[in-house]
Amino acid sequence: MASKFFDHTKIERNVTLLAVLSLVVVTIGGIVEIAPLFWIDSTVEKVEGVRPYTPLELAGRNIYMREGCYNCHSQMIRPFRDEVERYGHFSLAAESMYDHPFQWGSKRTGPDLARVGNRYSDEWHVQHLTDPRAVVPESIMPPYAFLAENDLKAHDMGRDLRALSRVGVPYSEEAIAAADADLKAQADPDADTAALLKRYPKAQVRDFDGDPKRLTEMDALVAYLQMLGTLVDFDAAAAQEKPR
Ligand code: HEC
Repeated sequence: MASKFFDHTKIERNVTLLAVLSLVVVTIGGIVEIAPLFWIDSTVEKVEGVRPYTPLELAGRNIYMREGCYNCHSQMIRPFRDEVERYGHFSLAAESMYDHPFQWGSKRTGPDLARVGNRYSDEWHVQHLTDPRAVVPESIMPPYAFLAENDLKAHDMGRDLRALSRVGVPYSEEAIAAADADLKAQADPDADTAALLKRYPKAQVRDFDGDPKRLTEMDALVAYLQMLGTLVDFDAAAAQEKPR
């Protein structure tokens, strides 16, 4: 029924008018959704504990991407009960704010890895990557034994850090200059790591691949896996939020 004040039949009988007015309505909706993003400083809330990757972790991440681990593993825990019970606290946007490109993934042939850090020992990871079926008999994951054979080529990690700093990751000039030294120090239990830990709080320092004499791609990849999801202290955050 056409009302006296607003005659819908006119609009509905005129295809052009209907299209134009529909476009106007959709445009208003679009502006309301998108425009605020231009004015707020950041769409990703900063979260305590999140820091850029150390050079060694970054080298491990490069190997993770080179080997295509993301084809089978996601790094994003969705806020559903089954996921949270299996993998831990759901992922926060801030936890991947320094990921370029992000590793959320879209396929889970294997489990999500967003919080795999500190869940297994280094030895477990080395064994699992060398021969997955040695520790998980039904596994269909391919072996990556060659990672322990390959020396880590990391003589110019400063360039990686510099490239990331151009897209907004806050690596200082000092951190960029020290990249190669920091990389070696993190895998060396005897190194002086005061500067490294100041730049990268909570960085785990040790020999990761079980062969302290060599710095291999296995060292870097395990260092990366062992830090995934460990930067934000959710227990401390939960304790703070508890009502008094
Ligand atoms: C063809 C698919 C596939 C690829 C590629 C793959 N994985 Fe896996 N991954 C799996 C499957 C399936 C499992 C579960 C069985 C097992 O633990 O081996 C798994 C398990 C894991 C686990 C144990 C996770 C947990 O919570 O138990 C880690 C860590 C892991 N993969 C790391 C990697 C890394 C690093 C790479 C790349 C170097 C990689 N995967 C490549 C399929 C894959």
